[in-house]
Amino acid sequence: MTLLREPDHGTPASSSEHMVCIEVDGVAVTVPAGTSVMRAASEAGLAVPKLCATDSLQPFGSCRLCLVEIDGKKGTPASCTTPVEPGMVVHTQTPRVERLRRNVMELYISDHPLDCLTCPANGDCELQDMAGVVGLREVRYGFAGENHLDAPTDSSNPYFDFDESKCIACSRCVRACDEIQGTLALTIVGRGFESKVSAGGTNFMDSECVSCGACVQACPTATLSEKSVIELGVPTRSVLTTCAYCGVGCSFKAELRGDELVRMVPHKDGGANEGHSCVKGRFAWGYATHPDRVVAPMIRDAITDPWQEVSWEQAIGHAAQRLREIQNTHGVDSIGGITSSRCTNEEVFVVQKMVRAAFGNNNVDTCARVCHSPTGYGLKQTFGTSAGTQDFKSVAQADVIVVIGANPTDAHPVFASRMKKRLRAGARLIVIDPRRIDLVRSPHIEAEHHLQLLPGTNVAVVNAMAHTIVDEGLVDTAFVTERCDAELYREWDEFIRRPENSPEATEQFSGVPAAEIRSAARIYAAGPNSAIYYGLGVTEHSQGSTMVMAMANLAMATGNIGREGVGINPLRGQNNVQGSCDMGSFPHEFTGYRHVSDTVVREQFESLWGTVLQSDPGLRIPNMFDAAVSGEFKALFVQGEDVAQSDPNIHHVLAALESLELLIVQDLFLNETAKYAHVFLPGTSFLEKDGTFTNAERRINRVRPVMKSKIGMQEWQVACDLSTALGYPMHYDSAAEIMDEIAALTPTFSGVSFALLDQVGSVQWPCNPEHPLGTPIMHIDRFVRGDGAFQLTPYVPTDERSTRRFPLLLTTGRILSQYNVGAQTRRTANVAWHEEDVLDIHESDAELRGIADGSWVTLASRVGETALRAHISDRVPPGVVYTTFHYPVTGANVVTTDLSDWATNCPEYKVTAVEVSPNLHGPAESVSGRSDTEADATVSR
Ligand code: SF4
Ligand code: SF4
Ligand code: SF4
Ligand code: FES
Repeated sequence: MTLLREPDHGTPASSSEHMVCIEVDGVAVTVPAGTSVMRAASEAGLAVPKLCATDSLQPFGSCRLCLVEIDGKKGTPASCTTPVEPGMVVHTQTPRVERLRRNVMELYISDHPLDCLTCPANGDCELQDMAGVVGLREVRYGFAGENHLDAPTDSSNPYFDFDESKCIACSRCVRACDEIQGTLALTIVGRGFESKVSAGGTNFMDSECVSCGACVQACPTATLSEKSVIELGVPTRSVLTTCAYCGVGCSFKAELRGDELVRMVPHKDGGANEGHSCVKGRFAWGYATHPDRVVAPMIRDAITDPWQEVSWEQAIGHAAQRLREIQNTHGVDSIGGITSSRCTNEEVFVVQKMVRAAFGNNNVDTCARVCHSPTGYGLKQTFGTSAGTQDFKSVAQADVIVVIGANPTDAHPVFASRMKKRLRAGARLIVIDPRRIDLVRSPHIEAEHHLQLLPGTNVAVVNAMAHTIVDEGLVDTAFVTERCDAELYREWDEFIRRPENSPEATEQFSGVPAAEIRSAARIYAAGPNSAIYYGLGVTEHSQGSTMVMAMANLAMATGNIGREGVGINPLRGQNNVQGSCDMGSFPHEFTGYRHVSDTVVREQFESLWGTVLQSDPGLRIPNMFDAAVSGEFKALFVQGEDVAQSDPNIHHVLAALESLELLIVQDLFLNETAKYAHVFLPGTSFLEKDGTFTNAERRINRVRPVMKSKIGMQEWQVACDLSTALGYPMHYDSAAEIMDEIAALTPTFSGVSFALLDQVGSVQWPCNPEHPLGTPIMHIDRFVRGDGAFQLTPYVPTDERSTRRFPLLLTTGRILSQYNVGAQTRRTANVAWHEEDVLDIHESDAELRGIADGSWVTLASRVGETALRAHISDRVPPGVVYTTFHYPVTGANVVTTDLSDWATNCPEYKVTAVEVSPNLHGPAESVSGRSDTEADATVSR
């Protein structure tokens, strides 16, 4: 349990190293120069009344409640906008300022509905608090004059209301939207008495608002209130935990009233988010208690049979017996498991341990296979570690930001807000993406270059940038000489200079003018701090790993590694994709990315686990599917991943699932994969879990149970029970004990414990005796591998080419309000923003095919076809179409192929040759046997 309202010092902290001493009400205070008088007083324990000030926003000075007297200064300055000066003597409680404050408050209250007792914010309202603090006892002005009491309420947003009658025009909401979120959706229109908040002249839902909730959090009154607070009442207690959506890993205070979750409030001290959130983390948690949740285990003999609800003992016993029967018949390697990046580190660790120790093979893989496995490979080859190099805060020091194959405002919104803040402050922006993502042009932000390359030509374009840097003498030779392997650099230098890597040669097939590539390269090299941020548009290609290494080469050649403001920064997809990789989920690696063939490491695991482990790598997910189709692989345990919707070439995946003799699915819902399952084991939502998630900046955050587990136990206990039933007993008393085992086995985690996390909030690995509080920035003095290793990155065009039959290239991505396969977000009010997947198509391609905006089209590739609505958009260039994959009814992955990254088998989701044609029948006749709901499998209870 933690404090409900966190301390608010009124204005942001100053980062100055120069200290200033002042006296406030007789108390000596020393604070950094630039600190406001209000904050200095607050830090001394002397809170000055305030309304328009809050320490997450720059001071504004509009409410006049924070007036103070300062010796030697005339009048009564506002303490929020007055910076400290050496020797200042401040008085915060004089009769004069107290009288003035009461007068100010009286004016506010005279135009405010006096319904405190029935107001949703009663007990959680700063206006109410301040009326008490200033000692307001009576209001001399009645409601007879002009007032705002009849102003309407805007209820258009599904998550919060805007009750204008309660607004005090303090502008905190407007400033939160500008300064924190960076959307600039709100303004104050009118002057004086007529001043009011406007969402661009329309309601919130129809405005530019992205429903991040920053304005709701900033509002000191009940004007902007969560609907859940209006319905359930003000929360009374809170639990600190971590968002379970994207790889940003935002910290939240889950605020409850009794046992009921009322709202999620981003935690000010959260290392990743520092008090901010997006619409998913703050509002889209209702899926956890959705009636579709399956909370009892179920079994069936054939996938055509109805499910039978059984006890946990029966389900586990049945699953174990079938697994052993299958191994006895088809061999020890005929079974395997897939871990989930939705789950905690502890849950993932236990599942991979079950596979290695109880299944007796290394057939374990994770859903990171299909997103960021090339990141792990590429960064390990070049730098020596499979993770991003920076913390999120580092972006504030970047002078040049290069965004490649990522759409942060939709997929990593809270990090995008940080990035936009830096861009508004003057950092230069280069976007490399086939689509015109929002960042290319948004309020006060404009990319200097948008290299709108053809899908599949990433490596060529980044090689061409590197060519320019070498060709034009822009290499940071001191860095290269001091920090990098000389021979590897020499080979790379010779390679990258070749004419085929020049921008001029690349222009021919990438579609990016050579002059643009050269200019972008010069800007990146000039920095002085240049940072690359990238996403799945880099990794999900046949050359995903090559591209990661090409970017690493670029960073090393220009010395942009090993300090704040630079680096190679993967924006990880799921909440714990970094963690699931760290936890030994890959078939060739134990925890901490150590190869299973390493005898010393393996013996350490064997000794602690008391069993013999295989030294050969096991099967990757695509190999498992291939082996299932060819009849050698017979049983699969899938933890929290919907492979039947998320993996490429769905027809092949379904053929594999249908071939299995036993499919065990552990999930919250009967998802698409569960339709092919024989055993269904319920899982827990993040609100029930106890453990840790590791975000994209290697930050290990605590996940704490907010509500009782709906399945009566922690999810890791299920894997322990299954392992025990298989004859390899596994037992832990707590998630903390699992983390202790991870720490004992993993050098980069050796300093991590729940006790440490509870004490300091979060740490970024490596966290060990050399770095007891973690490592925000990596490779500072030397690379983890020693010398930085330049790698040759020849561009090899993908086999997936547009042809006469399939002349367009499809690329896929995400939208802000939905998440991945949508299993969670589709079960929330977020559907208000995105009810279906649509196909973005350029006007010229649409016209050529007789396709109208909003009409149904058939999207066909060489492996399958589906139907969806067309959306004519200039965000995609001619020749390229784009869609999301949040809805099973669309099944975008019906059309994606099984081409994959050469090094890691990460699927090439981002390039599929397709044709689009008008479809007069709509979805029902066109989608290959898909249903609109995941919960439609027959359940007998
Ligand atoms: S919810 Fe976020 S985007 Fe919408 S108006 Fe408020 S701060 Fe701006
Ligand atoms: S809505 Fe709230 S934060 Fe915005 S101006 Fe009104 S009272 Fe202030
Ligand atoms: S940015 Fe990501 S981690 Fe943060 S609240 Fe949104 S979905 Fe959750
Ligand atoms: S708090 Fe200082 S003027 Fe409002």
